[in-house]
Amino acid sequence: MRVFVTGASGHLGSAVVPELLSAGHEVVGLARSDASAATIEKLGAQARRGDLSDLDVLREEAAASDGVIHLAFRHDLMINGDLAGAAAADLDALKALADGLDGSGKPLVGTTGTAMLAMGDIVGRPGTERDTFPSGGYRIDAENFVANLASRDVRSSIVRLAPTVHSSLDHYGFITAIIAAARQNGYAAYVGEGANRWPAVHTLDAAELYRLALERAPAGARLHGAADEGVPFQQIAAAIGRNLDIPVRSISADEANDHFGFLGSFVQLDNPTSSAITRELLDWTPSHPGLIADLDAGHYFQA
Ligand SMILES: NC(=O)c1ccc[n+]([C@@H]2O[C@H](COP(=O)([O-])OP(=O)(O)OC[C@H]3O[C@@H](n4cnc5c(N)ncnc54)[C@H](OP(=O)(O)O)[C@@H]3O)[C@@H](O)[C@H]2O)c1
Repeated sequence: MRVFVTGASGHLGSAVVPELLSAGHEVVGLARSDASAATIEKLGAQARRGDLSDLDVLREEAAASDGVIHLAFRHDLMINGDLAGAAAADLDALKALADGLDGSGKPLVGTTGTAMLAMGDIVGRPGTERDTFPSGGYRIDAENFVANLASRDVRSSIVRLAPTVHSSLDHYGFITAIIAAARQNGYAAYVGEGANRWPAVHTLDAAELYRLALERAPAGARLHGAADEGVPFQQIAAAIGRNLDIPVRSISADEANDHFGFLGSFVQLDNPTSSAITRELLDWTPSHPGLIADLDAGHYFQA
């Protein structure tokens, strides 16, 4: 297939593009700068110059492709607290990509996060692919838009990624920010008892999931990119402490923003997430190290 990939120059893209190429697909990646284009070409794909807001480019490339994987996201807006702006830009891009694929039966794989499950009213069990939300929440409208594209004869699917996509390819993700906070404060922290759980997935396992979704996910599928169902945050802090050789401490919810910055409330999420339906549906078997083993591999702590 000729596959158009937005975000091809980013963390996930750096694994998804090689995964697609090695399976025999041709890849065109959206590049908003010379540097992004060079990154994409170095991976062995073609670059198409354009910004996420260049909706004509998105429409045109989607129409010229056999399938689309949408990874790009305005993290610059998100980090500055403009969640609504980031989500709106994402939805606009998805609408343009969908216009290019309308009525074609071709696949469009979108991206959201499992964190939305922690904001719902799921109690006493892991979130599953069957849990959905009506509208309004952060990235929920984008997810519902993609799932509903099945009615426009687009073979759409959504990968809900764990908040922790980890590997030596990850240079700016949440784990790197939490490690930076630990270095800066001189101790690794968790909130309260640190029993709240974060799901996680290795970047290479996530990349395989995107390829499988592109190749054979049924229209409207919601998929879970989560290999670890839920790692207690205390264990994450303990692994950071041992690898940096610094103390590990419990802090209060009031201290979380000071220690973790923009991740202050996020680190308190309890987000256990099952991927049983995804594994069964796509025969996806994550095989790379889990989060704690990957932290203990040491690459996150090299200078
Ligand atoms: N990594 C995680 O742990 C994680 C967890 C949950 C969900 N996700 C989601 O997974 C997706 C991929 O994440 P990632 O970790 O690969 O992110 P990333 O490393 O920050 O990469 C973002 C990509 O989007 C591109 N991009 C950003 N703004 C753009 C714009 N205005 N126009 C064109 N391209 C633009 C970037 O291009 P440049 O190279 O030019 O900057 C880059 O290729 C995102 O939707 C993210 O929110 C990630």
